[in-house]
Amino acid sequence: MATEFNTDAKNKIAEALKPILAESVQLYVLTLNVHWNVTGPMFQGVHLLTEEQYLELAPAIDEIAERIRTLGQKAPASLGAFAKLGSIQDGDENADAQAMLKSLIAAQTQITGRIRPAIATAADAGDEVTAGLLTDRLTVHEKAQWMLRAMLG
Ligand SMILES: [Fe+2]
Repeated sequence: MATEFNTDAKNKIAEALKPILAESVQLYVLTLNVHWNVTGPMFQGVHLLTEEQYLELAPAIDEIAERIRTLGQKAPASLGAFAKLGSIQDGDENADAQAMLKSLIAAQTQITGRIRPAIATAADAGDEVTAGLLTDRLTVHEKAQWMLRAMLG
């Protein structure tokens, strides 16, 4: 019979979730930037795809933050904290559509690389809930990479 994982394990998992929360917010803002500012013949497709993506990200960000709270830690919730924890750079509202798509692919790849080891951290500690949540996030971010790449042609 599995017992509840200990505080050390919970803290370790919460710490792994914090940069994922930060980068999810950074990706959300970058996605909005592209949604609002993309121009050119690809406008319609990019505008609609990024809308789907930011609408999906908003509740996911809440889920990740609430999982950190469930594990007993405060959720980072300031732009300063997100900038310290995450590595996704701000977008350029004047970039062309191709460069915007490339910046989104890079951001989606960055967060994927953050999530993968955190799944192992959670699974090793017997935290199937976090492992499941992160596996769902990985599915979304991998699919997003495919769609963004496909749009580049
Ligand atoms: Fe919109």
